[in-house]
Amino acid sequence: MSEPRRIRVLYDEATIARRNEEMARAIALDSPGDLLVVAVLKGSFMFVADLIRAMHRAGMEPQVEFVHLSSYRSATISSGQVEILRDVQSDVRGRQVLLVDDILESGRTLAFAKDLLAARGAASVKTAVLLEKPGKRAVNVQANHVGFACPDYFVVGYGMDVAHAYRQLPFVGVIETADQAGLPGI
Ligand code: IMP
Ligand code: MG
Repeated sequence: MSEPRRIRVLYDEATIARRNEEMARAIALDSPGDLLVVAVLKGSFMFVADLIRAMHRAGMEPQVEFVHLSSYRSATISSGQVEILRDVQSDVRGRQVLLVDDILESGRTLAFAKDLLAARGAASVKTAVLLEKPGKRAVNVQANHVGFACPDYFVVGYGMDVAHAYRQLPFVGVIETADQAGLPGI
């Protein structure tokens, strides 16, 4: 086996947990009543699992659905195209929807998912993302709830991968490479 690569922690477990509680309280104020959470797989599975438990503590009773979208092809460069690999099972017509994704980068994934659910007749589609990389937007879309404004590094962990690896990490980190070693710490 090759040497495990060093991962530098950007957002640790406690920081993420605190932010999830704050986001859930903001979501409860912003979207009271019936809410259908639609999580974008795979990257958001850990975030949404924690977020809906925080939503429970904030007094909410959301329903949960999943849509599996793909824009990245096991590379760190976006292909620019979004594909549905697995669709939601419920009818979203007339529902108040909260789309949940891991990262808002070019915005293509979130814009695609928002348009899809709106076109199917959702009453409203709001969005929550754990991380937002500012200055990377290719399409005009904004998230209603953002966990952290993330520096422009390729991040892994807390559900996010590079070539299918590192999703299991309980924190968000950056893989240390020689050219990143001198980057300022967070
Ligand atoms: P967008 O469509 O360009 O906004 O990209 C969003 C999707 O790309 C996210 O849902 C992630 O799955 C993936 N992605 C973007 N940046 C990163 C990263 O730094 N690490 C892991 N996945 C990323
Ligand atoms: Mg994703």
